[in-house]
Parts: sequence; C-alpha cells; structure tokens
Amino acid sequence: MHAWLCNNPVGIEALRWTELPTPEPAPGQVRVAIHAASLNFPDLLTVQNKYQVKPPLPFVPGSEFSGTVEAVGAGVSHLGIGDRVATIGVTGGFATHACVDAAMVMPLPPGFDLDDAAAFAFTYGTSHHALVDRAALRPGETVLVLGAAGGVGSAAVQIAKAAGARVIAAASSDEKCAFCRQLGADVTIQTGRDNLRDALKAATDGKGPDVIYDPVGGELAETAFRAIAWRGRYLVIGFAAGPIPALPWNLALLKGASIVGVFWGEFVRREPMAFRQTIGELFGWYALGKVKPAIDQRLPMRALAGAYARMGSRQVRGKLLLVNHP
Ligand SMILES: NC(=O)c1ccc[n+]([C@@H]2O[C@H](COP(=O)([O-])OP(=O)(O)OC[C@H]3O[C@@H](n4cnc5c(N)ncnc54)[C@H](OP(=O)(O)O)[C@@H]3O)[C@@H](O)[C@H]2O)c1
Repeated sequence: MHAWLCNNPVGIEALRWTELPTPEPAPGQVRVAIHAASLNFPDLLTVQNKYQVKPPLPFVPGSEFSGTVEAVGAGVSHLGIGDRVATIGVTGGFATHACVDAAMVMPLPPGFDLDDAAAFAFTYGTSHHALVDRAALRPGETVLVLGAAGGVGSAAVQIAKAAGARVIAAASSDEKCAFCRQLGADVTIQTGRDNLRDALKAATDGKGPDVIYDPVGGELAETAFRAIAWRGRYLVIGFAAGPIPALPWNLALLKGASIVGVFWGEFVRREPMAFRQTIGELFGWYALGKVKPAIDQRLPMRALAGAYARMGSRQVRGKLLLVNHP
C-alpha cells in the first residue's frame, strides 16, 4: 500500500508518499481498499498541528473516505469482504488502504455512489446536526448560510432547502454565488462586493434571518448577528477565516437570540444512536435526490499538495476528492 505519511506536522510540504506494508486488521477493525477520500478543512489544520485533535506521529491524514472492505478482523460481524462502505475519523484517508475501527464504518445503501460517499457524512452530518437538531429549523423559516459555496456550506444550503426553509447564501465571488443558486439557494449575497447588512435587510423585508449558519467566523460574524431575526439562532460551526469572533452579549438580549455551538465529532462520539438516525435520514434524502454532494474536482491521490493549495486559497466549490481510480 501507499500513503501520505506525516512525520512532522509543519504543513503539507513535509508529507511523503510512502510505500508501507499492507496492514492486517486488528480485532474490531476492517481493512478498506480506498476508492476516494474528500478534503475537509480540518485536514488542513491536522498536518499543521493546529487541529483540536493531535494524532500521534507518524500519521496518515484524511478524515473521510469510501471504499470496499477487503479484510475483516476478529469480532466484526456487521461487515463482510466486498461491502461498499464509507468512514469518518481524523486520519487514514489519503492512502490506498486503511485499517479502521469497524464501529466507525458505515455500509452504504445500494445505489449510493462511492465518490459521493467519500464526500457525504462529514459535511451533511454536520449541517443536518446543526440545522435540524441544534437550530430546530422549521419549514418557512429563512436561513443565512455564510461560506455557502464551501464543503459544509454547500451541504447546509441543500439541507435547509430539503427542510423547507428559504435560503440566503453568502459567498465571496460571483462564480461562487452562481454555484450556490445551482445548489438551490433562493437569494445570494456576494460578500466581496455587497454590504451584508443592507443585503440582508433587503432579502428579509427588514426582519433578518431566523437561523444563521457560520463556518467562517472573522469580521462578518458581528454584522450577521446584528441582522438576526427575533428569536434567531446563530450556529457556530467554524472559523475558516481565522479570527474567532467576540460578540457584545447585549446583541443576543436585544433579539431574544441564541448562540448555538455545533461540534459534530463530539455529537457522533457522545450520541451514537442519534448520529445513526441522522445518517439514516440523510441516506434517505440522497435516495430521493434531495441532497447530493457537488464535486468540485477529482484529483489523483498523488496530487494531494494541489488539493491542499486549492482549499487553502478558497477556490473549492463543494467538495474536493482525491481518488484511487481513473
Ligand atoms: N463544528 C463542526 O462540527 C464542524 C464540522 C465540520 C467542519 N467544521 C468547520 O467548518 C469550517 C469550514 O469547513 P469546510 O470543510 O466546509 O471548508 P471549505 O470547503 O474550505 O469552506 C470554507 C469557506 O470559508 C470561507 N473562507 C473565508 N475566509 C477563508 C480563509 N481565510 N480560508 C479559507 N476559507 C475561507 C470560504 O468561502 P468564501 O470564499 O465564500 O468566503 C470557504 O468556501 C472549518 O472551520 C471547519 O473546521 C466544523
């Protein structure tokens, strides 16, 4: 097998494409022949030692991938050789093979495309947990999605639409805004040009969005929060822009609004039954065509550095895949 090995977490430059002995699965594990892996923002942070989870060295980055089970460890009964699966975690995906904890491996329903499966659970799981569970989004409400053309943002646009909401998508270029409209957004705001405050007033008749989904943080967060509707819910998803916003608390008081934290990885760990229900619902929505990952590019697994550069420079629209197939 081959894998991108990180011996020194100082950035993508330090990773090496390395031949390794193909591992046998330990008890409770399966070995997966990796079909595709998707790039998630935390993958950028992990190789720089900046993510909240710091894997022991050496490690193979890649938090989400799909493939086929090709060996089964002792004690695993719900998976068999040849099963088409997807898995999420922190490491292992940027490789040709990986041994993973069987409990974290999801068998795929018939008809679920293996490329889509590599780009699904992380982003759709996060956005479903955020909008449906944490924000209790209701049909007819208005949702503002910041960073809407990115991985979790594009999933949030589709999930909010599937839940019957009206979606305002904010993104930093005309091309990204056009992409968001293709995803189903009702209104777009080009944050590189438009005044967010004025645009939100115009798009909501002055009422403001009921729910704000924010994976970006940075300078737009306070402007967005000031515009939130009465009883609004502001979903704290992430800080792709870098700075962690600090808000005056009186803004929450004035709108009777909630600041709602979302930590999907911890939700999966603490509430495994609820997580399985969520994934089951999302698989159902996929089968009905209500959600489908928008694939930005498929790059060969060897082109990992190019993939990191594309995400780091805000060019990705939807999900970027690293594939082991032609
Ligand atoms: N809370 C959770 O459980 C959870 C789960 C998954 C991901 N996340 C977090 O969600 C965030 C987004 O993840 P993702 O995988 O969707 O990433 P992504 O695909 O790269 O999207 C991030 C978006 O943020 C915007 N952005 C603004 N400033 C940026 C900058 N300096 N660098 C990069 N992007 C910038 C970009 O949109 P514009 O160009 O349109 O501004 C970009 O499309 C990350 O912070 C990640 O850690 C949180």
